[in-house]
Amino acid sequence: MSAVSIYRPITGTAATRALTAATRNTADFEGLGVALADPVECNVKQTPQKIGFIGAGRIAHGLAVALTRAGYPVSAVASRSTASAQDFAAHFTGCAALTPQALADTCDFIFLTVPDDSIAPVAQSLTWRAGQSLVHCSGATEVSALAPAAAAGAMTGGFHPLQSFSFKVTPDAAKSPLAGCTITIEAGPPLIDTLIRMVTAFECRPNRLPPGKRALYHASAGYAAGFIHGLMAEIATVWSQWDATEADVLAVALPMIRATADAMERGGIAATMPGPISRGDLGSVTAHIEALSALSPEALTFYRAHATRSIALARAADRIDAATAAKLTAIVDSSD
Ligand SMILES: NC(=O)c1ccc[n+]([C@@H]2O[C@H](COP(=O)([O-])OP(=O)(O)OC[C@H]3O[C@@H](n4cnc5c(N)ncnc54)[C@H](OP(=O)(O)O)[C@@H]3O)[C@@H](O)[C@H]2O)c1
Repeated sequence: MSAVSIYRPITGTAATRALTAATRNTADFEGLGVALADPVECNVKQTPQKIGFIGAGRIAHGLAVALTRAGYPVSAVASRSTASAQDFAAHFTGCAALTPQALADTCDFIFLTVPDDSIAPVAQSLTWRAGQSLVHCSGATEVSALAPAAAAGAMTGGFHPLQSFSFKVTPDAAKSPLAGCTITIEAGPPLIDTLIRMVTAFECRPNRLPPGKRALYHASAGYAAGFIHGLMAEIATVWSQWDATEADVLAVALPMIRATADAMERGGIAATMPGPISRGDLGSVTAHIEALSALSPEALTFYRAHATRSIALARAADRIDAATAAKLTAIVDSSD
């Protein structure tokens, strides 16, 4: 069975040119909003533009740290509460806390880093101008949510880091909040080249999507982030049967998750899948089903969904033969 990929990484000339320009001269980072051309043009020093954030939460802090480290100063911030904006501004040299409209009036490149449901209303509530750039950072929201800005002549786009920002990081953070991650970008020219350039300066991997796929893409990406929390909670629910604590679960499961991730990085998804399903151990899976049936219908349903997907994966990769896959499926479905 062939793997289905919804990601379309930028690996061609645009990324190479961006990397060449970005690694050649840090002054090149200053030319935000300038279309990426050949490296000779990229060496022409540009007037720095003003970057601002509307929304002073977790991703704004993470991106601002990455921008600062890559040589892009953050000029201004606005938020729902003045306190949030002032707290953000205090961490970034030269950053002013403004009202959203004052920020829209003064900044050339604006990250709209408000919750997803607030993106369209905030875009609608402000006055934009031709020539400025407005990007949101939502994975699920289409860029068309920024239509009021586009109608005013602004360039609009999406800039979605495939990374979890659970806390507000500050410039003294030891690690780059974006190190090694992928950022999905969407925009027309010339903004797209600016976004590629920025992703490259962050030492991240640019990724593009066909139009209209953002909800699907974001739903699936959740398996690598928020849904892991659901899996961990399920372990904790089962382990509460013998009074294990959440700390016990974390101590046991996190090394397993890290080892599993390392193995997948080296050997791919199907080939490194561990566990009784990948080995065709019918007795162990039978015991699992019996134990979870006795525990609760919810625990059984949860296990079944994952086991069914794992059987299909093991079979598709020829880790188990068709007869074993059929027997495993019958066991998993047995209490229906
Ligand atoms: N966190 C992540 O892991 C992550 C990863 C990738 C993408 N994203 C995307 O990043 C965006 C922001 O997420 P987040 O996690 O950073 O959220 P967050 O931590 O909750 O921060 C949201 C910020 O927006 C401000 N805000 C809310 N409504 C506003 C409004 N109407 N006008 C101005 N400011 C407003 C809040 O203001 P106050 O502080 O003033 O109350 C807060 O500072 C979302 O689109 C999300 O999908 C997040």
